[in-house]
Amino acid sequence: KTLAASAAVMEKGNYRHFMEKEIHDQPEGCQRTIAAYVDTLTDRTAVPGGLDFKAIERIQIVACGTSYIAGMMGKYLIEKLADLPVDVEIASEFRYREPALNAGSLAIAMSQSGETADTLAALRYCQAKGMKSAAIVNTVESTIAREVDVIWPIHCGPEIGVASTKAFTAQVSVLTALAVAAARARGRIDEAEEQRLVRVLLEAPRLIAESIQLEDAVRGIAVEVAKARDVLYLGRGPMYPLSLEGALKLKEISYIHAEGYAAGELKHGPIALVDEHTPIVILAPFDSYFEKSASNMSEVMARGGQVVFITDPDGERHAPAGARVVVTAPRCDPLIAPLVMSAPIQLLAYHVALQKGADVDQPRNLAKSVTVE
Ligand code: G6P
Repeated sequence: KTLAASAAVMEKGNYRHFMEKEIHDQPEGCQRTIAAYVDTLTDRTAVPGGLDFKAIERIQIVACGTSYIAGMMGKYLIEKLADLPVDVEIASEFRYREPALNAGSLAIAMSQSGETADTLAALRYCQAKGMKSAAIVNTVESTIAREVDVIWPIHCGPEIGVASTKAFTAQVSVLTALAVAAARARGRIDEAEEQRLVRVLLEAPRLIAESIQLEDAVRGIAVEVAKARDVLYLGRGPMYPLSLEGALKLKEISYIHAEGYAAGELKHGPIALVDEHTPIVILAPFDSYFEKSASNMSEVMARGGQVVFITDPDGERHAPAGARVVVTAPRCDPLIAPLVMSAPIQLLAYHVALQKGADVDQPRNLAKSVTVE
């Protein structure tokens, strides 16, 4: 035990927790992952496994937890860029509800551990229907990795913290590369556009590193958020799955009730929760959704809500007056905004949990890998 404990201390380096270390590992983890899916000599995608995206009619992603949210991000990316339909489902629902499937679809199991029982069962269900299968996994010796036709590894290194961070951004990195590759294979973009997007993706690690620099700003905000009973996260487009991930991270490690919502759903329920005690985290870079998100922000502020606005420099300039707390992430192409905007929400959950004195790496009742139902 002592040996294991000292090994753990060494691996943590100067960090207090694995989660903190893993947040800071993300530029490197994403860089290694992206390098495995692009060819830097030609700036083209180079997805291992030799799958023909032209021959795939649909994609069915199955996953749990943070991997499920990464899968949802994949749907947003792949459908928009490649015009290829993607269904994403929580594995525990999928495996029991007898979903209608099509043998021409590709099943993608997403799992950091590669051992999650429900994800494995959902994958086997797809295979039994005659579907081809792929897995986006961190552990390549895992059961899920062994059972699929194509393995798409993430290369972020082992993840120890129970709350997933670097595996999430590495999974999203793979899905971004797949989206670009599928778009090119299906004739939705030309070679020049593929090269432009690959160069954008290659910029992501540097920009993630910049957004991790927001830690001091986020630490200050965490002091306030830690006092809350409920926290709402709102976003549109790809910021919607990210708002789910922000809420999940906060719940997992700080035990504060949090919900992620599509900002457009605000009026259909969550606005009833808004009062001066409820922090509302709005994720809105200056993209095609910005104006709508900004107007949701005004609605929330008009009801006394305390907005934490996570945006970029242009978004900061166009923000409705009155946002007390603004976190300004680096400007980037919309393709990689999900990657660049991840660090602030992970850091917010981390610092709120520290404020509350919670055991960040071993949150109560949670396990890193859920190998039973
Ligand atoms: C557990 C972990 C989560 C993880 C989920 C899915 O609930 O605590 O962090 O996202 O399992 O795990 P997987 O290994 O399949 O990605």
